[in-house]
Amino acid sequence: MLADSYGRIATDLRVSLTDRCNLRCTYCMPAEGLEWLPKPELLTDEEVLRLIRIGVTLLGIDEVRFTGGEPLLRRGLADIVAGTAAMSPRPKTALTTNGIGLARTASTLASAGLDRVNVSLDTLRGDRFEQLARRRRLDDVLAGMAGAAEAGLTPVKVNTVLMRDINDDEAVDLLHFCLEHGYQLRFIEQMPLDAQHGWRRDTMITADEIFAHLRSVFTLEPADTHTRGSAPAELFYVDGGPATVGVIGSVTRPFCGACDRVRLTADGQIRNCLFAREESDLRTPLREGASDEEIAERWRAAVARKMPGHGINNPDFLQPVRSMSAIGG
Ligand code: GTP
Ligand code: 5AD
Ligand code: SF4
Repeated sequence: MLADSYGRIATDLRVSLTDRCNLRCTYCMPAEGLEWLPKPELLTDEEVLRLIRIGVTLLGIDEVRFTGGEPLLRRGLADIVAGTAAMSPRPKTALTTNGIGLARTASTLASAGLDRVNVSLDTLRGDRFEQLARRRRLDDVLAGMAGAAEAGLTPVKVNTVLMRDINDDEAVDLLHFCLEHGYQLRFIEQMPLDAQHGWRRDTMITADEIFAHLRSVFTLEPADTHTRGSAPAELFYVDGGPATVGVIGSVTRPFCGACDRVRLTADGQIRNCLFAREESDLRTPLREGASDEEIAERWRAAVARKMPGHGINNPDFLQPVRSMSAIGG
C-alpha cells in the first residue's frame, strides 16, 4: 500500500511515457519546444512495465493512466498497454492524449487492453487551433476523438483549458459539440505549470466564471455529490441530464485532500504531485539490480513524504522546475 502521512492512499498511477509532443500549445511550451530528455535517461518499455508491475502487484495500484508529453509518440505504447492489461490483478487503463494519430491507433490500443481515453481540445476553430497549438491539426484531433469512440474507448472525455480572451468565448460551443457527439467535456482551470512561467492568477478563468458562462445557456445540477471520490472533475447534469459536464477547479476548488495519485516520470522518478518540490529516483536502483521488494520499499518511502496539497494559493508558492509536459498531465 502507498500511504502518506495525511491518511491518503495512492492507487492511481500516472505514467509519463515521453516528454515530447507534436503540438506546441502556447500555455504549455515555447514554439521551439523544450530540451528533451536524452534517450539513455528514458525508461525502456521493459523498465516501465517492471515498475508498473511492482505498483500493481505489491503496492495496491489499481488504475494506470498513460500520459506524456504526447503518449502516442511512444513507439512501444501498444505493447506497454498490453503488458499492463495482462497484469494480475488487472488494473484499469486510460490514456490522456492530444488525439493526433488516435484515429489510426484507437482500435489497436483497444485490442491491447486500453479501457478509455481523455483528449485535449481547446477550440473548434481551425485558425484558432493553429494559433493556440502552433500546428494546423484540428481535423486530426477531431478524427482521433471519433476513432476512439468507434473503438469503444469510452467514455471519451474531453479536456478544455479555458483562457481569457483566447478561447473563453467558446465554452458554450464546445459543450454543444460534445453533447452532440456523446463526449464528456471537462473545463479546466489553468494551473501554473507552463514552461514559460506566464501564468497569472488575475487573468485565470475561474470555475465560478465557467459556471456563469454555462448557466447563461444551460441548467447545471450537481451530479456527483456522493460519487465524486478522488476525481478532479466536479460533474453537473446539463439541462436535466443524463449528459454531464465537468469542471476541474484545481486552483479555486482544490481537491488535494482526496488525492489518490502518484506519478512516474518518463525518466523513472516518482512524483507525488504535479507541484511536488522533490522526486524520488527509481531508475537508479532499477538499473543497479535492486529487487522488486527493494524498489517497492523506496516507492513507499517516497509516497510517505507527500505534501498535503499543491500550495498554489500559499503566498510563498513557487512553480515547479519541471513543466506540465515533462511531468505528465
Ligand atoms: P479521469 O477523470 O479519471 O478520466 O481522470 P483525470 O481527469 O484525472 O485525467 P486527465 O489526465 O484527463 O486530467 C485532466 C486534468 O485534471 C488535467 O489537465 C489537470 O488539470 C487535472 N489534474 C489531473 N491530475 C491532477 C492532479 O493530481 N492535481 C491537480 N491539481 N490537477 C490534476
Ligand atoms: N493547467 C491546466 N491544465 C493543463 N494542461 C496542460 N497545461 C495545463 C495547465 N497549465 C492540460 C492539457 C491536457 C491535460 C493533460 O492537461 O490541456 O488536457
Ligand atoms: Fe503537447 Fe499537451 Fe503540452 Fe499541448 S498541452 S504542447 S498537447 S503536452
